[in-house]
Amino acid sequence: MLVKTAEFVMSNTDVRKLPEPSLPEYAFIGRSNVGKSSLINALVNKKGLAKTSQKPGKTQLINHFIIDKSWYLVDLPGYGFAQTSKKNRAEWERFIRRYLTKRENLQCIFVLIDSRLEPQKIDLEFCRWLGEQGLPFLLVFTKADKQSTMKSDQNIAKFKKSLLAWFEEVPSLFLTSAEKRQGMEEILATIDDINKN
Ligand code: GTP
Ligand code: MG
Repeated sequence: MLVKTAEFVMSNTDVRKLPEPSLPEYAFIGRSNVGKSSLINALVNKKGLAKTSQKPGKTQLINHFIIDKSWYLVDLPGYGFAQTSKKNRAEWERFIRRYLTKRENLQCIFVLIDSRLEPQKIDLEFCRWLGEQGLPFLLVFTKADKQSTMKSDQNIAKFKKSLLAWFEEVPSLFLTSAEKRQGMEEILATIDDINKN
């Protein structure tokens, strides 16, 4: 699938003020700095659409982007950001979890994982929570350009193995690089398939 247009719609902290849930929606979530905003820009091939930063904690709101006037991509703030207060973190948790569980047009959640790291507890537990809620999710391993494919594959294998402690099956996964636009066609094809069904 080729994206023709991608436009910013709105930023929100209030789940009640989101766009009408009339179009299919896909959300990107993961630890701060994992590359959610960069991945969105790479998917639609539009640098600077979603704001990125070398410093974690850049995205603070629920950001909606409309793609080809027919579906939404949603950029979310990251979890596990150390430089924030406990209160902030608890608020984040509440509003994101509310968004994820209540958003009726949300088709699928893309959970981003840093392909350079061994399985992180926070990511595994977040996946477990999604599973418990019955929310559909897929795994996106990011920053593949930063190390060898062998190293990424090792970390992916370990992550899958850890998930199998809680899940009977591991969801589909993608190895990506926003920098090199690796894996973008595969993600877009998956979205296209869901949109068509
Ligand atoms: P928060 O909004 O803070 O939660 O972060 P985020 O997950 O949106 O991360 P963001 O897209 O802002 O990227 C964080 C940093 O990682 C930036 O410096 C990006 O340039 C870099 N980055 C993201 N994806 C890639 C990638 O695929 N390859 C490389 N080399 N760097 C990447
Ligand atoms: Mg971001």
